[in-house]
Amino acid sequence: MLPNYYEFYCPVKIVSGNQALSNLPYEMDQLGAHKALIVTDPGVVAAGLLKPVQAAFEGSNCAIGAVFDQTPVDSSNLVCNQVAKIFNEKGCDCLVALGGGSAIDTAKGANIVVSEKTDDLLKFQGHECVKETLKPFIVIPTTSGTGSEATLVAVIANVEKNIKMSFTSNKLYPHVAILDPKMLVTMPKKITAATGMDALTHAIEAFVNLQKNPMSDAFAITTVKLVHENLVRAVENGSDEKARLAMANAALCGGIAFSNSLVGIVHAIAHACGGVAHLPHGVANAILLPWGLEYNLDTSAETIAELAPWIGAPAAGSAAEKARAVIAAVRELTKKLNELSGLPLTLKEAGLKEEQFPAIAKAAINDGTMNYNPKDATLEEVIAILKKAY
Ligand SMILES: NC(=O)c1ccc[n+]([C@@H]2O[C@H](COP(=O)([O-])OP(=O)(O)OC[C@H]3O[C@@H](n4cnc5c(N)ncnc54)[C@H](O)[C@@H]3O)[C@@H](O)[C@H]2O)c1
Ligand SMILES: [Fe+2]
Repeated sequence: MLPNYYEFYCPVKIVSGNQALSNLPYEMDQLGAHKALIVTDPGVVAAGLLKPVQAAFEGSNCAIGAVFDQTPVDSSNLVCNQVAKIFNEKGCDCLVALGGGSAIDTAKGANIVVSEKTDDLLKFQGHECVKETLKPFIVIPTTSGTGSEATLVAVIANVEKNIKMSFTSNKLYPHVAILDPKMLVTMPKKITAATGMDALTHAIEAFVNLQKNPMSDAFAITTVKLVHENLVRAVENGSDEKARLAMANAALCGGIAFSNSLVGIVHAIAHACGGVAHLPHGVANAILLPWGLEYNLDTSAETIAELAPWIGAPAAGSAAEKARAVIAAVRELTKKLNELSGLPLTLKEAGLKEEQFPAIAKAAINDGTMNYNPKDATLEEVIAILKKAY
């Protein structure tokens, strides 16, 4: 059904293909930038992914001004401030993020600090607090999950308060996303599985939640289809460049979908599991997705049922039957990923302790994404979901 009112925005140029990386200097030049600060992390460098980026600059009129390769997995405002300082000291004029959500969001945070000429990112926390035009910003994703290459969000830890903060602004969309399969073939099986389930969760939650609209639906359905056809293949054979490129596109489409319609109860609880118990984001989503969908069945069976043809579920029977078949297909997928990569199937396997449930549930019901879930949830209801997923 068409909503009475909606907005949709995605200003990101997408460059996708086998040789896409070679376009990097051209894209910088188009943005009027010639000296890049590369933001990456130690795992990405160890996987040998910095070398092809350096090689892409050879013979061009662009250069690398500096490389920051120490992005931690839970990046913080302090790291963003540090990256911004390097940007200024080395006279760089654009940011290039090379990595997963952690490196991309660190570059987003650093871009705010540089462009707002501030000394601390914390001053810009929240929604649409960024006023200055940001520096040219190009992303080369090396995981296929967060979709941060096409979202308005940066998720960054506040080290003093031990929480994850959200920065949202239409200015935070990268200018260009370069999807090249050679930057993805080194991703380990378990990270491929977990990040792929993050992409699927973005799409399904964007499709089911209250702010859905025809544009976000189109991107969500494409994501579900691409994940269904390619995630197991990418985990089974990491060198399968076609599956890798398809998953990169899935993640990006999922990012566009949820950046415009937001996510719901699964992400609310996953964020809380990340904050309280440091559970990796994709792992938490993979475990919680079927339980979150079951919770939403009484308000959203018809919507969930619409996903049946795209996720390989039987498309016959009543809406409730089809919706249950969609949930069964999600469970089948996570079971297969568990066999192939060891992706945990329960919160217990993932290392959570039952004593942590009250704190997780409290954080989950206060998470902003909960407001967009089709069905409200109380503290007790979230604890019930956590128990089922344990
Ligand atoms: N901004 C957004 O829209 C958004 C959305 C969801 C999640 N997030 C945030 O993103 C972060 C998670 O990002 P992620 O799941 O992409 O993981 P990540 O960026 O934290 O990377 C996980 C690990 O994989 C390694 N790695 C990455 N690519 C690799 C490759 N090709 N080969 C070998 N190793 C590789 C990294 O070195 C790292 O150790 C979290 O902080 C989460 O809060 C942001
Ligand atoms: Fe996510």
